[in-house]
Amino acid sequence: MTLQIKTLEGYHKAYDQSVNDPEGFWAEQAATFTWSQKWDKVLDWDFKGPNIKWFTGGKLNITENCLDRHLASRGDKIAILFEPNDVNGAAKSYTYKQLHAEVCKCANALKARGITKGDRVVFYMPMVPELAIGVLACARIGAVHSVVFAGFSAQALADRVNDAQAKMIICSDYNKRGAKTIPVKKVVDDAMAIGCDSIEATLVHRNTGEPIDLEAGRDHWWHYEVDHRSTSCPAEQMDSEDMLFILYTSGSTGKPKGVVHTCGGYMVYTCFTFKNAFQYQEEDIYWCTADIGWITGHSYIVYGPLLAGATTMMFEGVPTYPDAGRFWQVCEKHKVNQFYTAPTAIRALMAKGEDIPSQYDLSSIKVLGTVGEPINEEAWNWYNKKVGKEKAPIIDTWWQTETGGIMITTLPGITDQKPTYACYPMPGIQACLLDKDGVELTDNDVEGLLCIKFPWPSMIRTTYGDHARCKQVYFSTFEDKYFTGDGARRDADGRYRIIGRVDDVINVSGHRLGTAEVENAINQHPEVIESAVVGSPHDIKGQGIYAYVITSDKVGDHDEFRKELIAVVAKEIGPIAKPDKIQLVSGLPKTRSGKIMRRILRKIAANELSNLGDVSTLLNPEIVEEVKKGRLV
Ligand code: PRX
Repeated sequence: MTLQIKTLEGYHKAYDQSVNDPEGFWAEQAATFTWSQKWDKVLDWDFKGPNIKWFTGGKLNITENCLDRHLASRGDKIAILFEPNDVNGAAKSYTYKQLHAEVCKCANALKARGITKGDRVVFYMPMVPELAIGVLACARIGAVHSVVFAGFSAQALADRVNDAQAKMIICSDYNKRGAKTIPVKKVVDDAMAIGCDSIEATLVHRNTGEPIDLEAGRDHWWHYEVDHRSTSCPAEQMDSEDMLFILYTSGSTGKPKGVVHTCGGYMVYTCFTFKNAFQYQEEDIYWCTADIGWITGHSYIVYGPLLAGATTMMFEGVPTYPDAGRFWQVCEKHKVNQFYTAPTAIRALMAKGEDIPSQYDLSSIKVLGTVGEPINEEAWNWYNKKVGKEKAPIIDTWWQTETGGIMITTLPGITDQKPTYACYPMPGIQACLLDKDGVELTDNDVEGLLCIKFPWPSMIRTTYGDHARCKQVYFSTFEDKYFTGDGARRDADGRYRIIGRVDDVINVSGHRLGTAEVENAINQHPEVIESAVVGSPHDIKGQGIYAYVITSDKVGDHDEFRKELIAVVAKEIGPIAKPDKIQLVSGLPKTRSGKIMRRILRKIAANELSNLGDVSTLLNPEIVEEVKKGRLV
């Protein structure tokens, strides 16, 4: 069984071993899984390439480890518990045996449609069990899944399908989110109309049953394709370093990039971190409220929990439907033991009524988790007092799409916690802080750029189709270090606190967006001459999107124009990227070499007007006054 640390001494021992003998430490963890062939070498690496290989020569299938190996001891245990959007809808569950059968059926259906090892399959689906089943079915046959969050637009979906050169899209007919019904298949049709030439077929899961258009020969119903298939499907034996999935995420520049994770290391690390960060016990009910469209859902709804033989809940709905008590009602109903959500949800629920959680019996909760963005002290205290009744430790887990699994966190009940601090690195994680010249800050009580010095099993291997970009973004800022893009502080006792991104990435409600990506969308409007987007403080979302836009003189009605810009962004990316504020300006502050000075724009958006720094060296210093005066509150 994968090591579960139980004491502070145990944490130090594991951490020390993981640094002094990383190969020995991870080999011990890997040995607890099912491999059809053992690895020849635990680790091969250099950060220059980068070239990272864990458990080379090993052969495995992650679904045998998620499903088959539990059948004897946990076959009748619930693997997936599904809570629908509708509060009166019936919860549904799949035991490990049932999930195994469904995954095999779906895998056989994919094979029958010509999907084979290495083919890419894109998912565009709500949070229903068929999403997890489909993802696992891909892994069963060695196909590479790429889940696209179902809130992205048709254009964003088409961009991802084309980058991945996917052969199939799996979607649903409609998505129910709160009181809304979203036409998911229609978005897929629109993406196909934009152009997704690599797609040969779609598989459509009937979720609401309302009418949709199916194109003969291209679109197929899930229930016709899957339901009658055999419940047994041999698991494709994968090399440790074969691709498991691609997940697109935003960066400082250009279009979102496909982060590639591979089979062996990802399996070992997600299981290890799940068991340790959540201290999962055999009978526990675990609930992560994320969407499988993001890395949190991949690692801590699907893979980590199933690898550990846990009961993992999937929730179709939203935190505020039918009211702001929904999360707590679900916790009470299913006697949830570990609850994992995002600070933005905590802030939104806190704002709806501080005492709402006390209307529910939350006594089952043992661990509370947060992820995705910095948590402010007020939200941390409310979560601790009103939800955890000061009895459930809070784990503030810092990690990224690229890291695959949790990197820095308190181990609940084992290492200490401190509001707003993620605290201590997981075993195997050699975190460090550098100054801007790349010099490591070895003291405590310092602030710097957060980097990782040594590989860990679930780290990014490449960006799909563009290895040079992976090198440039993560491994070239500092020599021989993985650069996270985050700034952090380390307190006098060695706890880490994540301050936020130091690059042009913004974090809106825990969703990561590149400012360049939003600017490119805004610039699609024919009357836009130039734009600059920055993050600005937002009470609920953490960061809001503040756009400065230079328009042509053809724009008459400014309010109408702003609406058009918002519509353009929703069309190009999706509603999550809609700017909160759009300030029309006649120019943007620029350096003499023509670079937009975002630092100044960020400060103006944040109303930090007194410390803009020296603006006299700008190409156009006079513009700063105008931008300041026109600031939107
Ligand atoms: O800035 C950090 C922030 O989210 C970024 C990663 O975003 P993404 O790849 O979408 O993954 C989010 C879920 C793992 C990081 O670079 N972030 C993530 N967790 C935290 C955080 N910031 C502060 N505290 C956290 N616990």
